[in-house]
Amino acid sequence: MIEKMISEKQKIEVIVGDITTFGGCIVNAANESLLGGSGVDGAIHWAAGPKLLEECRMLNGCRTGEAKITKGYNLKAHHVIHTVGPVYSFHKNPEILLENCYRNSLKVACENDIHEISFPAISTGVYGYPKMEAAKIAVKTVRDWLKEHEDYEIIVRFVCFGEYDYNFYQEVMNA
Ligand code: APR
Repeated sequence: MIEKMISEKQKIEVIVGDITTFGGCIVNAANESLLGGSGVDGAIHWAAGPKLLEECRMLNGCRTGEAKITKGYNLKAHHVIHTVGPVYSFHKNPEILLENCYRNSLKVACENDIHEISFPAISTGVYGYPKMEAAKIAVKTVRDWLKEHEDYEIIVRFVCFGEYDYNFYQEVMNA
């Protein structure tokens, strides 16, 4: 695990694990329908139970780069922030859309007085975003946001689904 204090109020963590086992607020790498899927989306819906899908149906989807919040239901997490990453080969400016996912998720967390948020490696699975590039965008965007909101106390965690993914974040964090 990597832990980096950004300030006395803010910390970034990188850890290997299953995001559905984390408390606080977890971020779902969803699709624009918000009606579930495979990967981390499937795992979160499975762990949360059917009430999550019921609430998602009321949200009328989510545009790529945007973020919407629901309760966590049977998850340990009290809230889930659903964001939709770019499909790497489809969008002409995937790096901007991926940055928006992290920024908008942090914005929604701040608006909901959330002080612990865990991100998966958005877009790096089904959506095909190169893992090193995505890790660089994730870490830079979070660091920039924390600097812009230095008075907001929060722990931001990157949860990697294996050592392979973790190594990319470790290299970026230590650069
Ligand atoms: N915990 C943490 N990370 C996970 C978990 C988990 N339980 N399951 C998968 N991951 C990781 C994957 O290893 C990958 O690094 O999440 C990252 C994102 O992969 P995907 O879940 O495939 O998400 P994404 O690439 O953003 O594609 C989204 O896939 O599941 C569908 O409905 C979803 O259409 C959407 C698309």
